[in-house]
Amino acid sequence: MKKPGILVTGGTGYIGSHTTVELINAGYHVVIIDNLSNSNVAVLDGIEAITGVRPDFVEGDCTDMATLEGLFEKYTDIKGIINFAASKAVGESVQKPILYYRNNLNTLMNLLECMGRFGVDGIVFSSSCTVYGEPDVNPVTEQSPIKPATSPYGNTKQISEEIIEDVIHSGAPFKSIILRYFNPVGAHPSALIGELPNGVPQNLIPYLTQTAIGIRKELSVFGNDYPTPDGTCIRDFINVVDLAKAHVIAVERLVENKCLEPVEIFNLGTGNGVSVLELINTFEEATGVKVPHRFAPRREGDIIQVWADPRKANEVLGWKADTSLADTMSSAWKWQLALREKGIM
Ligand code: UD1
Repeated sequence: MKKPGILVTGGTGYIGSHTTVELINAGYHVVIIDNLSNSNVAVLDGIEAITGVRPDFVEGDCTDMATLEGLFEKYTDIKGIINFAASKAVGESVQKPILYYRNNLNTLMNLLECMGRFGVDGIVFSSSCTVYGEPDVNPVTEQSPIKPATSPYGNTKQISEEIIEDVIHSGAPFKSIILRYFNPVGAHPSALIGELPNGVPQNLIPYLTQTAIGIRKELSVFGNDYPTPDGTCIRDFINVVDLAKAHVIAVERLVENKCLEPVEIFNLGTGNGVSVLELINTFEEATGVKVPHRFAPRREGDIIQVWADPRKANEVLGWKADTSLADTMSSAWKWQLALREKGIM
């Protein structure tokens, strides 16, 4: 049976591009909408080089209803949406809260409104472990308490989850799967797509690989006096391709009407807590490349430690993050080398 169309909002971004590859590999017709605010149209070439298929692309903004209406009128086979279109820099969100609330929330509300009108069966929403704040107990399950958000970015994730619950429980004719990501890292093993941060990276892995290649002088490890075994923060680093595959399973569950509840929530992580220092060591061992680093003061707003209990996703979705951290670090390095080869960075 022919598979339906899937709309991937933010599909030229980091997680969106990897998910598009996995959707195409699984036989779906993918339509991407992206405003290219934090990505490049050349990502489509990378997706095509990997899969042999160029996804349909609409350059536009999901906060613009007319653009979305035009898209759904044109691509009538769309039965599922995966919503990646959002601003995601924690620090920037503190400076520009209105931008974050407008962009992230209006996008979601426009999509939900279109779903009813255009007969879309389900939406996969990108949420974050940020909703758990500083957890009292690790690993966190989907039932762990939601803590007050510490940034407008984090708040948009919490509010978005609530909007989805409210809309679907009001009797909407569609369902949703909310995926709470831990820390997505790495790149496609082909090194044809990966993360493309604008300017000075804020996140650990792009800063680390840019330091390893000599673009940055040294990596600052923010805080070495935390109450953790080696004093540095602990995260659950999940391979981006593993993460992408979970989206294919989730959207399939929605369009094939296999959900057990109207809104299902899953943690997507490995289940392993890894400290910042352990991560640097794993990178150095996997690649043979040294990362100059020094300890720096704690970064404001950082969570001390958080890692996932991914058993619900393992059991219900039949999905597991099984790429080793060493392989993930190698993929991140290969991508950084490819960027230099292309003269991008
Ligand atoms: C944050 C957000 C998360 C969001 C993600 C992507 C929170 C609590 N977390 O994750 O929701 O999805 O960004 O934007 O809001 N580090 C260094 N040196 C660096 C950079 C980072 O030591 O140069 C450390 C940090 O202190 C942290 C760890 O590395 O302990 C991971 O940091 P980062 O990659 O920025 O991700 P999070 O802050 O965990």
